[in-house]
Amino acid sequence: MDTRRAFLTDRTALVTGAGAGIGKGIALAFASFGARVAALEIDETRARATAAEIEAAGGQALALVTDVRDGEALARAVAATVERFGAIDILVNNVGGTFRAPFLDVAEKGWDAIVRTNLKTVLHGTRAVAPGMIARGRGGSIVNIVSIEGVRAAPLYAAYAACKAGIINFTQSMALELGPHRIRVNAIAPDICLTEGLASLVGEAERARFEWIVPLGRAAVPEDIAGAAVFLASDLAGYVTGVTLHVDGGTHAAAGWYRDPGSGEWILGPGRRPA
Ligand SMILES: NC(=O)c1ccc[n+]([C@@H]2O[C@H](COP(=O)([O-])OP(=O)(O)OC[C@H]3O[C@@H](n4cnc5c(N)ncnc54)[C@H](O)[C@@H]3O)[C@@H](O)[C@H]2O)c1
Repeated sequence: MDTRRAFLTDRTALVTGAGAGIGKGIALAFASFGARVAALEIDETRARATAAEIEAAGGQALALVTDVRDGEALARAVAATVERFGAIDILVNNVGGTFRAPFLDVAEKGWDAIVRTNLKTVLHGTRAVAPGMIARGRGGSIVNIVSIEGVRAAPLYAAYAACKAGIINFTQSMALELGPHRIRVNAIAPDICLTEGLASLVGEAERARFEWIVPLGRAAVPEDIAGAAVFLASDLAGYVTGVTLHVDGGTHAAAGWYRDPGSGEWILGPGRRPA
């Protein structure tokens, strides 16, 4: 096999939420594999920092301060990217996030915020980028960052989980609608990844359990997710579309199995056998 298929040389990638966490990890990894990167971020300092890090390593980047919940702002950022780099080959719809609350305690305003951030950003991103890919006729790759919560129950995060499940389905529909244009559409479902977003949701006690909740024995770091994104963006994944790749250290497979922190034995249930 031609190993150049693993590289993203001469491709332009647009990554949303590229200033921290998983989005930043993906932006830096894409640049390492040769892509030009448009880093879309609501936070200007973060956008500039990601772009500066890419440029300091010899890559090309464009920092764009954009609230990707706003479809028109996103369209302007896409136009700015095309003006600077010529076209967009890769789109990563990464922005997402949630707060922790029982569903019945959340008012409609809260659901709207979750839907706008998690679901509508992906719809806006796809709407803004795919027509240009189609018009250019050279295919493309769209990667949506979902979550393990999109395929399992998520008490305290019900609206977020419903959005992530929705994106998994949207990913499949887009894979079909855009397939004839050689635009591949896939999703990545992380579980526990050490980012600021995660830190805002879990406390010390939960953090201490990651080691035995995750079959591979540790939480992910953004680079773990970025590796899968590079694969899906590259020609190595040229025949992969409509899939959700679980990059979670095995938690989706575990489905309720845990390693007992004391004995190291596999147990099904809450973590400690009844005495
Ligand atoms: N961290 C995890 O454990 C985990 C697990 C599963 C799924 N995910 C998903 O991964 C994605 C990234 O999560 P993370 O933990 O890296 O998040 P994060 O909160 O650490 O970073 C998100 C970045 O996006 C930016 N951002 C937020 N809203 C924005 C907006 N409207 N427009 C532009 N930029 C915006 C933030 O400023 C920040 O820099 C999300 O979709 C999240 O649901 C994360």
